[in-house]
Amino acid sequence: MRDWAVADAKNRFSELITKALEEGPQRVTRRGRRVIVRAEDDAIDAPAPRGRVEYEGHVARPAEGLRVLLIIGGGIAAYKSLELIRLLRQSGVAVRAILTEAGAQFVTPLSVGALSEDKVYGDLFDLTDEAEMGHIELSRSADLVVVAPATADLMAKAANGIANDLASTALLATDKRVLMAPAMNVRMWTHPATQRNLTRLAADGVVMVGPDEGAMACGEFGPGRMAAPAAIRDAIIRLLNNEARPLAGKHALVTAGPTIEPIDPVRFLSNRSSGRQGYAIAAALAAAGARVSLVSGPVALADPPGVTVKRVETALEMLGACEAALPADVFVSVAAVADWRPDRCAEEKIKKGQAAKAIGLTENPDILATLSKPGPNRPGLVIGFAAETEHVEAHARAKIAKKGCDWIVANDVSGDVMGGVENEVLLIRRDGAERWPRMAKEAVAARLADAVAAALTARGGGLTGRARCADGAHAAKPSRRRRWRRRARRSWRSICD
Ligand code: C5P
Repeated sequence: MRDWAVADAKNRFSELITKALEEGPQRVTRRGRRVIVRAEDDAIDAPAPRGRVEYEGHVARPAEGLRVLLIIGGGIAAYKSLELIRLLRQSGVAVRAILTEAGAQFVTPLSVGALSEDKVYGDLFDLTDEAEMGHIELSRSADLVVVAPATADLMAKAANGIANDLASTALLATDKRVLMAPAMNVRMWTHPATQRNLTRLAADGVVMVGPDEGAMACGEFGPGRMAAPAAIRDAIIRLLNNEARPLAGKHALVTAGPTIEPIDPVRFLSNRSSGRQGYAIAAALAAAGARVSLVSGPVALADPPGVTVKRVETALEMLGACEAALPADVFVSVAAVADWRPDRCAEEKIKKGQAAKAIGLTENPDILATLSKPGPNRPGLVIGFAAETEHVEAHARAKIAKKGCDWIVANDVSGDVMGGVENEVLLIRRDGAERWPRMAKEAVAARLADAVAAALTARGGGLTGRARCADGAHAAKPSRRRRWRRRARRSWRSICD
């Protein structure tokens, strides 16, 4: 019993610290035998475990879930790429490697595969490989392409668009950012041809790490040594977070699903919303790095990974939960909120014989319009949805004006959209409209998350004056959050020691 109590405390403790480290401004303190995690308007606590707790595994890893395609060129520095793989894996980054023919002279596919825990692709990419994963897909399946060591030959091919083996083909076919860690003899590095290639690559957006200066394996001294694996890892994580997590440090609030408005303990008024589009949007915003609060009506869907879900039933509860979740940088109002609720909910089940001829209705608050009102708590970007059956664009434009939101995602629900897996939408901003082709609700969500990231990260781009202002105000947030995180980590250590 005692053992169980300690284990349980440790489990709850790890939940608490994960919350403290991942969920914005919070403070961890210890009062007697209890540990308290305090948010701005909330506090949770759990019994403190005895002794020292190994917390390393619970600390959010800096690049968890992100993916790198690592191209290992042929150079003596290739051995350092093994350490790089180990460091990346430790940071939670998935690594898939292409080992060039020359690279395989320095390190073996076996060691690369063992460290990356994935298949290693070589220049002799055969038809079986191609059938499993085409070279185009291979070059795009990662969030970032890294070349380490980047030899003079690989740099020259990439700078000139030569694609005559798997590594150079992947570099030409990729739609992702490329980071190179050059490594070569000092004379090769300073040669005008390499310096010309370097300028071209920089103009193409390739990011360089190193080379460092020092004694080289060939006995010469000068620039040309590959940067230290830890320095490359840090540059990769910085770039990954900028590229793949453009919403890191932002808070997104999303509503989804229907609301249900009780008539009596067993009956209610509601609608057919499945919640699928709202859940997909919450998941896409979380995948883009945002901290996401999802306020959901009753749906048969699992919580999206990495999203804090608050389940509610009525429109009044949904409004309360949304207001409690503020401030937010973006609010996406996807829920199909019931416009009306019965005047009163009978305490007991209404019997057939007693049924009233008519149910009196009271109008529900409009959550979107409420959160769109100007004020210090107004999210920087407010997005509403409009389900229409006719004159979609005209009605949606009128809705922007009526509700005071910034964008409307409008869709024609006269077909099978409600409850279906696909959606065809029109994104309406105050200054223009974009029609998106019919696609899966997850694809609509990913595209909307991209648009949100572009609007929140561009200096004021796409936002209204008011929203621009609010966005500016949020710009100070990450550093404050970092301060809190540091403090949470420090107090966590003092609790554990
Ligand atoms: O007015 P209509 O219901 O068509 O507006 C739809 C938009 O307004 C959606 O974004 C929906 O989430 C939001 N809404 C709301 N509260 C209501 C009704 C609708 O937030 N009571």
